[in-house]
Amino acid sequence: MNSRCKKRFSGVCLESMKVVSQREIAPTIFELILQGDMVAIMKAGQFLHLRVPNDAYLLRRPISIASINQDEQTCCLIYRTEGAGTAIFSKLSEGDLIDVMGPQGNGFDLSDLERGNRVLLVGGGIGVPPLLQVAKELHSRGVEILTVLGFADQNAVILEEDLKQYSQVFVTTDNGSYGLEGNVSVVIEGLKEDFDAIYSCGAPGMMKYLDKKFHHHPRAYLSLESRMACGTGACYACVLKLAESETVSQRVCEEGPVFPTGTVLL
Ligand code: FAD
Ligand code: FES
Repeated sequence: MNSRCKKRFSGVCLESMKVVSQREIAPTIFELILQGDMVAIMKAGQFLHLRVPNDAYLLRRPISIASINQDEQTCCLIYRTEGAGTAIFSKLSEGDLIDVMGPQGNGFDLSDLERGNRVLLVGGGIGVPPLLQVAKELHSRGVEILTVLGFADQNAVILEEDLKQYSQVFVTTDNGSYGLEGNVSVVIEGLKEDFDAIYSCGAPGMMKYLDKKFHHHPRAYLSLESRMACGTGACYACVLKLAESETVSQRVCEEGPVFPTGTVLL
């Protein structure tokens, strides 16, 4: 455990992080910037387990780390209000404190990628945020990046301009109200080049498509979601079955949320 983790519970870091800012970047989608010591040990693809600041809610809510700024000791989370917990998060404002457990999960393996490598990022809807830190880090190493983003419609489009700073970006919308009509497969099926690594996060249907499409790719990764309780590997609420053995489970909070394609049953 990193020495920057001051308070621990069952081996994980707990910290009251400070809200630096919060704004609505699209209808019902919020960007929350948090500051704290925990930023020092965050990695792309990990998530934070946030306590809802209301004692009526016992379970924490998992939200991915969208980007990390080590100079300012801040991280950015992007979330959609779904139910009561995220609705309460959306009321947080500058100076508030939020109880954070994390950083959780294994994150994306970005090792050994450098100038001359080509990487494909595929994001869908509210699954796009964790790809932002991947793009930032790989771009700084000179890696060439192609990003394909899929959304329901124009109102749901997020992070297109941010990702354009680091990569070539294609956008699809299901109803054709923005970008190409259809889902990400409209772009991916037309790609002729090979990629050294593929990183993705999105809705279950998109994850199943990518798992099949890149089943045998040596470095293709899916960031997956599952209902969670403890978020620390203890309760087995979040398990998925291993593809090669239906009796062996993988915990999304502990062995995941990132899994290589072809390894878990979707
Ligand atoms: P409610 O529906 O009232 O929640 C009831 C319970 O169900 C809570 O315990 C809640 O945590 C759980 N739950 C509901 N939906 C989900 C879900 N999709 N996944 C897991 N648990 C859920 N959402 C974002 O908008 N941005 C992100 O970056 C993001 N990253 C995630 C990373 C991981 C590893 C996981 C597992 C989920 C992520 N989610 C993300 C989904 C987010 O956790 C849920 O939208 C949120 O927990 C809903 O809470 P709620 O109280 O508003 O909704
Ligand atoms: Fe408890 Fe994953 S949420 S083991």
